[in-house]
Amino acid sequence: MKRLKYVLVILALALALPVLSFPGRETRQEPGRLNIAQEKDLSELMKQKLEHSQKLLEGLVRRDFDKIAKNADALILLSNRAEWMVVKTARYELYSNTFRRSAEDLIQNARAKNLDGAALAYVDLTLACVKCHKYVREVRDARLDQRPPSALASLSPH
Ligand code: HEC
Repeated sequence: MKRLKYVLVILALALALPVLSFPGRETRQEPGRLNIAQEKDLSELMKQKLEHSQKLLEGLVRRDFDKIAKNADALILLSNRAEWMVVKTARYELYSNTFRRSAEDLIQNARAKNLDGAALAYVDLTLACVKCHKYVREVRDARLDQRPPSALASLSPH
């Protein structure tokens, strides 16, 4: 039930993200959530990540190789920012590397004007999004089971 509740919170957040900038959000902190300041930086970064991946898709369907390369490049830059590394595990790093490799693939295929290659790299990139998110949820759930009250600290970047 706890897991279900958490999934619902994330779902609600994901749905609210495109329309809200959370100016007056409550300061209530639930187990497993980051604090408000961290969450703000992180959610800004994640919002940009979503925007760039949507523009990537637009570039692909319009056969706009510049747009593809530009947004793949922006994604690599985002993935190198400190806030990206919210979870400090080898596996998280592995997913981050897979993500960057797919983005680099996209750039190379865009330069070579290879639309099929770029489309495949986009699929890989999208899979990396989903796999990493699945992993992050698993880590959080596991930490919540072990240490409910202080689970937050272990996810903090400091
Ligand atoms: C290496 C790991 C990783 C990859 C790859 C990744 N993300 Fe994320 N993403 C995260 C983390 C960590 C969060 C923060 C989750 C939280 O705060 O609960 C997040 C949050 C988000 C959010 C905010 C909504 C939410 O669930 O909190 C969006 C939107 C998002 N990511 C989109 C994407 C997209 C689109 C891609 C692929 C282009 C992607 N992500 C790839 C780790 C990743």
